[in-house]
Amino acid sequence: MMGRLEGLIALVTGGGDGIGRAVVDRYVREGAKVVVLERDRKLAQAVESAHPDRVAAVVGDVRDPEAHLTATERCLETFGQLDIYVGNVGVYDFGAKLADLDVLELPEHFHQVFTINVLGYLLGVRMALTALRASRGSIILTGSSSGSYAGGGGALYVASKHAVVGLVRQLAYEFAPEVRVNGIAPGATRTGLTGVGDLGGGRALREESRLLDGIARAIPLGFVSEPEHHAGLYVSLASREESGFVTGAIFPSDGGLEVRGRPQGAGLNGSGAEAVAKRDHGASPFRPKGDRR
Ligand SMILES: NC(=O)c1ccc[n+]([C@@H]2O[C@H](COP(=O)([O-])OP(=O)(O)OC[C@H]3O[C@@H](n4cnc5c(N)ncnc54)[C@H](O)[C@@H]3O)[C@@H](O)[C@H]2O)c1
Repeated sequence: MMGRLEGLIALVTGGGDGIGRAVVDRYVREGAKVVVLERDRKLAQAVESAHPDRVAAVVGDVRDPEAHLTATERCLETFGQLDIYVGNVGVYDFGAKLADLDVLELPEHFHQVFTINVLGYLLGVRMALTALRASRGSIILTGSSSGSYAGGGGALYVASKHAVVGLVRQLAYEFAPEVRVNGIAPGATRTGLTGVGDLGGGRALREESRLLDGIARAIPLGFVSEPEHHAGLYVSLASREESGFVTGAIFPSDGGLEVRGRPQGAGLNGSGAEAVAKRDHGASPFRPKGDRR
């Protein structure tokens, strides 16, 4: 059976683990060949050997322009083209509150988070642009529910993911009509997402079970996602057949955060407002006056 990405070549940053790895595995299943840019040598080797002849890994850091150059060249030299660019590497701040950060260390914290989460995307996209224009390709950037809402991280992470929203919109504008640019905004996902330096460097989200349990309770669907839950959206946005008229859009994959509303039972469908209205007026505010059914 033909895959949905048959004959296409993708570059995925951070494809050695977490969401990036799930995207690589899914892209291969859909018929694509993939170059992975990954900082961790062991993870890079593991993804390459899981997909012989279909995945080539470049070991490098997204803060380094040379790493992006090598990865883009690897696409062209090994596979002959580049159709899909997935900017995906990000680091977390584990909810560090601004008031708790030492003001003298703030510039360094800012630098660490923003060079990976924002500059890393700018460098990669800039390096891949000529090849993507030639193929009339597609760019997909991994954002976050923290690109829309407060409280899922600290000020640095939330601001960096809001910046990704700006990148998607501005780059979609700049690169049209040749290249489509979209974003995917995952909610909490069971991965090894880590922080930098004092902001949770050495911690891994998937090991924080109390934190994840608390997050699950706040998600309407009631669970924390696995990386595979998001991979289908990356396929759809990469495929011209499936999303050829979509650019500048950001798709949430967050278990319904947007429809969270009031806690069940406290809203208009529950006991709260209607019970108060009945007590005060003897009738539901949603029925005509005098209707005492
Ligand atoms: N896990 C979540 O709950 C969650 C939620 C929303 C958004 N996201 C976003 O998803 C993206 C992927 O995160 P994840 O959760 O899969 O994390 P992850 O840590 O599991 O995967 C990230 C991968 O990138 C690699 N990497 C890290 N820093 C790098 C660097 N400087 N250069 C090159 N490679 C580097 C890591 O080795 C790892 O393989 C990030 O942008 C993150 O902000 C994650």
